[in-house]
Amino acid sequence: MTNNETKRRIIVFDTTLRDGEQAPGCSMNSQEKLEVARRLEKLGVDVIEAGFPASSPGDLESVKSIAGIIKTSTVAGLCRSLEKDIDAARTALAKAGQPRIHIFLATSPIHMEYKLKMKPEQVVEQAAAAVRYAKQFCSDIQFSAEDASRSEPAFVCRVFGEAIKAGATTVNIPDTVGYAMPPEFGALVAYIKEHTPGAEKVKFSVHVHNDLGLAVANSLAAISAGADQVECTVNGIGERAGNASLEEIVMALRVRKDYLEADTGIDTTQIYGTSRLVTQVTGVKVQPNKAIVGDNAFAHEAGIHQHGVLANRATYEIMTPESVGISTNLMVLGKHSGRHAFEDRLRLLGFTVDAETLEKIFTEFKLLADKKKVVNDRDIEALVMGFAAAVPETWKLDHWAVNTGSALGASGTIRLQHKDGSFQKLVSLGDGPIDSIYKSINQIIGKEPELELYEIGAITGGSSSQGETMVKIAWDDRRYNGRGVSTDIIESSIKAYLAAINAMEWDIQESTGR
Ligand code: KIV
Ligand code: ZN
Repeated sequence: MTNNETKRRIIVFDTTLRDGEQAPGCSMNSQEKLEVARRLEKLGVDVIEAGFPASSPGDLESVKSIAGIIKTSTVAGLCRSLEKDIDAARTALAKAGQPRIHIFLATSPIHMEYKLKMKPEQVVEQAAAAVRYAKQFCSDIQFSAEDASRSEPAFVCRVFGEAIKAGATTVNIPDTVGYAMPPEFGALVAYIKEHTPGAEKVKFSVHVHNDLGLAVANSLAAISAGADQVECTVNGIGERAGNASLEEIVMALRVRKDYLEADTGIDTTQIYGTSRLVTQVTGVKVQPNKAIVGDNAFAHEAGIHQHGVLANRATYEIMTPESVGISTNLMVLGKHSGRHAFEDRLRLLGFTVDAETLEKIFTEFKLLADKKKVVNDRDIEALVMGFAAAVPETWKLDHWAVNTGSALGASGTIRLQHKDGSFQKLVSLGDGPIDSIYKSINQIIGKEPELELYEIGAITGGSSSQGETMVKIAWDDRRYNGRGVSTDIIESSIKAYLAAINAMEWDIQESTGR
């Protein structure tokens, strides 16, 4: 096939905000979800699964806000095959330009017997009834046969046939537990396409988990077997070992479109920025050797490789870093850089910010450039993230001090300003500077959330690098992330903790109306 021949256009259904977000440690607050949704739209994702509206009032609200801002992508909300779930989804999607209701029900013997406690006959009826109910409110209905890869293929066809009769427009074949082998999964997709009554009226989708590390391979096998839609997440985040990774599927299709004879509508130059955003908001880093977006994905260490790349990049590179949005522009920013250069770099990194935010970020950039000779892309990313997905601050840092040493314990003093304008100051003793200062913060706010994760690293190499701290706290069965960046590691730790505390306070205010 030559490059000019028409390729099949695969629909990209992103579930970073639903399946990705429901994975342990990947939770996002509603501001962060909005920011990710905006970026997914810019990336060119066809369908954004924004959440599971019936799962919590917070999820419903966040799907509602995403539905209100997304213009070009379809916005989907997940539901069990229950009227109350479908009602929650239609409320949440009311403002969406292109809403999709996504209904699922398990079809495997093990799920039907032990989880649903339903007979196959009842599953067929409930699936059709749910689709019929949803169809009254929305023309775009997706039905998923959960655990399809461990289901009787003929039974999946039967359930799909009834779902299609009831109005489904997409039917989805999930490998829910990441059990399938690529040739087997391809054959399953081909079989289901061939034997489902009404198959010609709908799109076929696949949704694959990565328990055996085969999610991308299975998704590509399914595409070769005729799947029209692929479900995936940025960085492959998701339940257990995760979902199929969006960037890997998209780049496999782009680089090997000659072989796969299919492509997507994704703007691949937005991939790296989107991956970084998801890393920043979830605090879940990708491994250095992760394909496409890992730190080493385009690094050539061996001398013989470097020699080859210098002579001709194609000797060891099957795609360019630029094609996935990794800038190789070595121009660095510093204290003499002007607003134009700064704005330019923001644009290159995929950030769009309003004029007021730009003003604030530029001021911070100048302060940072005074402390650090060279401000690089990671520093800029960190600066923007401090503003982009931030929730309103209940507590603001005024000042802090610590005293510590090997013979003494540590004492931490902190002064915070509450949103009502009042100041509170406290000194605590602790096992170390961070412990003492976090204790002071807890006493001021009157809560003691559990610190589930505290991680500190350098944004870039070198002793003048900024310290980046990531914390996760748990309070009342909910989890909140916070990140802080500063040239001082204690200050970055304080900022991270306060960011998580502010996310928690905001969530409490939103859910209690206080
Ligand atoms: O893994 C799965 O089966 C799912 C469905 C809800 C599509 O996430
Ligand atoms: Zn899933």
